[in-house]
Amino acid sequence: MNATMSLEKTKHHPVMLNQILSIISPQHGGTFVDCTFGGGGYSKAILKFPRTKVLAIDRDKLTKKYADLLGNKFPKRFNFFQEKFSNLDKTVQQNLNPRAIIFDLGLSSFQLSDTERGFSFKSKNFLNMEMGINEYSAYDVINTLDKEYLATIIKVLGEERDGRAIANKIDKYRRKKPIKTSQELSSIINEAKKNYNNYKRNPATKTFQAIRIFVNKELTELVLGLIGAAKLLSDGGMLIVVSFHSLEDKIVKNFFNICSNLKKNPSRYLPIKENKSSLFKLISKKPLVADITEINENIRSRSAKLRYAVRNNNSFIYPEEFKKKFLNYLKLEEGTI
Ligand SMILES: C[S@@+](CC[C@H](N)C(=O)[O-])C[C@H]1O[C@@H](n2cnc3c(N)ncnc32)[C@H](O)[C@@H]1O
Repeated sequence: MNATMSLEKTKHHPVMLNQILSIISPQHGGTFVDCTFGGGGYSKAILKFPRTKVLAIDRDKLTKKYADLLGNKFPKRFNFFQEKFSNLDKTVQQNLNPRAIIFDLGLSSFQLSDTERGFSFKSKNFLNMEMGINEYSAYDVINTLDKEYLATIIKVLGEERDGRAIANKIDKYRRKKPIKTSQELSSIINEAKKNYNNYKRNPATKTFQAIRIFVNKELTELVLGLIGAAKLLSDGGMLIVVSFHSLEDKIVKNFFNICSNLKKNPSRYLPIKENKSSLFKLISKKPLVADITEINENIRSRSAKLRYAVRNNNSFIYPEEFKKKFLNYLKLEEGTI
């Protein structure tokens, strides 16, 4: 079976779709921004409601074929941009006044199961891991990045304790010949982690996560995407983010805490002052998660965390405190090859 045929058979389940629809109430109409179009699961579900418009973004050029189908069906209500969501506020007109901006982070099932993209451990194809609009591939990172830097990336972006041992092993192999495929890389990592005994997870999981995040500058994208969304939303507009691993969730949680009315009052004896620099009203401090029926149907939804907040009417002030908090990730992802 060739890669294209298996791709056609792949089904993408839009994660936590029912919760999202009940938060955004598309039956009342309005404009929605889908920042991570993928297979179009969210966009399609929103467009089923007649008075809605959707503006969708995805950095992956292969998503365009799904977008074209929707564009043909709803020429007046659907627009697609192949862009990175860090450019959200430049891509979308400032006075759009969206009812909601939605992010569903990470990879789609189409990307994961397409062995030509190199995201899966078993792929015998080129070590690519690019989502789209990239400066370099995983091949460049694995074969040319300074060994110490590689160890730091694996430790920090993969939260992998054995980052140094893995980077040493990669370095030993690449000195002999370039590491060309994802399968080669995963077997080198397996060798470095030979005492690893969590049989539920592939030993290369965390390193693959780290390399993928670095290649796509995913944390920088998220930080800038959230700030762009806050700038674009007006009073009552909602920001909804579905994340899948702890680094993403840490960024989203801090963004909402720092930019919301939940910012701590200096003393409980002082009257609560209106915080003019807050941008959002946070609905709940706890994230929503997928229910058991969804988890049984789609195992990927098991790690999903949905956080959302509603924009207030304060004018946009750039959230310096938030950006400063995650500057170490942004600097790490800036590293040059
Ligand atoms: C989990 S999938 C979204 C699935 C979609 N909600 C659906 O129901 O079909 C994530 C998508 O976001 C895209 N993506 C990830 N990071 C992006 C970024 N920084 N800018 C634009 N698109 C991005 C990926 O290419 C992928 O297609």
